[in-house]
This record gives sequence, C-alpha cells and structure tokens, in this order.
Amino acid sequence: MTNKIPVLALDGPSGSGKGTIGQLLARRLGWHFLDSGALYRSLGVAAEQAGVDLNDKTALARLALEMSLRFTPREAADTVDVQLNGQEIGDRLRTEASGRRASILAAIPEVRRALLQKQHSFRQPPGLVADGRDMGSTVFPDAILKVYLTATPDVRAERRYKQLKDKGFDVNLRGLFDEIRERDARDAVREVSPLKPAKDACILDTSQLDISGVVERVYGLLQARQRRG
Ligand code: DC
Repeated sequence: MTNKIPVLALDGPSGSGKGTIGQLLARRLGWHFLDSGALYRSLGVAAEQAGVDLNDKTALARLALEMSLRFTPREAADTVDVQLNGQEIGDRLRTEASGRRASILAAIPEVRRALLQKQHSFRQPPGLVADGRDMGSTVFPDAILKVYLTATPDVRAERRYKQLKDKGFDVNLRGLFDEIRERDARDAVREVSPLKPAKDACILDTSQLDISGVVERVYGLLQARQRRG
C-alpha cells in the first residue's frame, strides 16, 4: 500500500544544519518534524539509566521497543523537548558524549530495525520533515524529496561549537572537530544504513550558505517537486 502523506527527507552528517533547517521548514510547511538522531540519543540515555551495556544487542533492541518517547518542538529552531518514560531528558541529549553513544548503538542492525516503527509513526497528515542519516535511503524511501546536506568538517565543527556554547555547554573546538570526524567515520562505514546520500537525493553543500539561504533552496526544490506531482 502506498502512503500518500508526503515526506521531505533531510539527511547528512553532524553539523550540516539539517536539524535547524528541518525544523524551520516543518514550521513553514505546517508539517510534523522527526529528529531521528534524538531517537538514537534517547536510547543511549535509556541504556545508561537501565545499566545496559552498549555491546548488549538483544537488551538494546528490547529497550528500543519498550521505551516511551514524547517529542515536543521548542521555540528555538534547533531543539525539541524529549520525554523518556515520562521524564524530561532534552538537555542531556545534546552533548557530544550523547552523540557518540548514539552513533555506537546506531551501528547495531537489531536496534535500527526496532526503531523503524517509531520513525514511521511520525508520518502524519499533512506531511513530515524527517532529519537523520538514512531517512531517504531506508526509512522513507518513497519521500517526495530527498536532500543530503553537507559542509566541510571545519564548518560543521564551528557550527556545533557555537550551538553548544549558546546552550551553555563547556566545549572545545579542536575536541569537537576530532569527535565529529570520528563519528562521521563510524556512521559511514557501518554495514546497515551507512551515512551516504540516497541514490535519488539532491546534494547541497551548505559551507558557504547561511540558514535562510538553505531553507529557501530546499523550499524551492520541494515546491518544484510538488508542482510536478
Ligand atoms: O543527528 P544526530 O547527531 O543527533 O545523530 C546522533 C547519532 O545517531 C549519529 O552519529 C548516528 C545516529 N543516527 C543514525 O544512525 N541514523 C539516523 N537516522 C540518525 C542518527
């Protein structure tokens, strides 16, 4: 059965701007928003709370199926409030350490399978903007538009630095650069849903563009795609 609810798939590495761009586009379109990275990050927190080891695939997959999550977009365009089993954990998700844990458990096929249904459940009328690594390639292969956002590692590290500093985290640019490179490498070489553009994705390098420039560009692509039907 084909699903008629349109999905805009925004994929790309950490710091490519997809979270901020995705939320702004979702607001402009009046569509729902899925921050799939937050699902993997939340599972990392759930595992920590339950004392589950990141090597225990079976326990992690079970935890992924059982955890209850509620996402509420915040006023700031790059964050969502996240409740895990009824407890607010949004701020714990944003650290680089949480990104690292997420990237480790995201390499486990059983975990990715267990999180599929949760991701599909975000597809509600009138539409969904989905941000992640494999939105276009695996989770929503029938997305109306697939965009792969990228930027040089230096630019991405600087963006993450500014984003985390603004939120009051004590961060170091060099350390962030190294962690981003390490996370990119792990996400790109894993066997299931590695970080790479879907075959039919439009690739957009945002290194020289500001946020509104990217939003306009993607919005224009989406309108053109919708006109074509
Ligand atoms: O988008 P993010 O930085 O919040 O994602 C954190 C990690 O989660 C990322 O390094 C890899 C993993 N991830 C994934 O494997 N697939 C997704 N669709 C989203 C995130």
